[in-house]
Amino acid sequence: MKRIVFATNNAHKLDEMRKIVGDNYEIISLAELGCHEDIPETADTLEGNAVMKAQWVHDHYGVDCFSDDTGLEIDALDGRPGVHSARYATDGHDSEANINKVLGELQGVENRSAHFTTVIALIMGGELHTFKGQVFGRILTERHGTGGFGYDSIFLPDESDGRTFAQMDADEKGAISHRGRATRALVAFLSTLK
Ligand code: IMP
Repeated sequence: MKRIVFATNNAHKLDEMRKIVGDNYEIISLAELGCHEDIPETADTLEGNAVMKAQWVHDHYGVDCFSDDTGLEIDALDGRPGVHSARYATDGHDSEANINKVLGELQGVENRSAHFTTVIALIMGGELHTFKGQVFGRILTERHGTGGFGYDSIFLPDESDGRTFAQMDADEKGAISHRGRATRALVAFLSTLK
């Protein structure tokens, strides 16, 4: 079985990726690689950050690897929080504070259009490949649902029957989500290599 390092220690993302990839590739986490450092992600674009993380792992460990970066871009806020989605309101990953900040900034704003974008950067045999997934929708005026994470409870996808991501199960969300789409593009590419 071929091994690829996924530049993350997020158990949820690893689980999801291992399920989609199946038995053809063994997905190794950063911890399993023996890497316990904070990898720099200081670029000003999602693609820049994804590439920076994958490049860092490749430079330090010389392995085939991939990384991902996700952001929520809100049209009325000129694309914010975007690349700053994780730390929009505070320095930590405080989703409740992030949601409160977005809802405050959108108070009284009619245009609620927004989209999530995930970029995956893969370095395979020393070559860089990138994959993108997007989902379009709008930001509600209050939270709906308790599932998911991040901004899920205020994001209503255009393709939904009226439920936010936080009201869907993981499979329903993955079928239309930014990360699901980017991941399937990565997996489709990997399957052409066999
Ligand atoms: P990351 O690049 O995957 O760590 O995502 C950055 C930030 O974007 C997270 O901390 C969340 O706030 C937000 N985010 C990423 N993916 C999702 C999602 O699927 N739903 C809601 N928020 C998300």
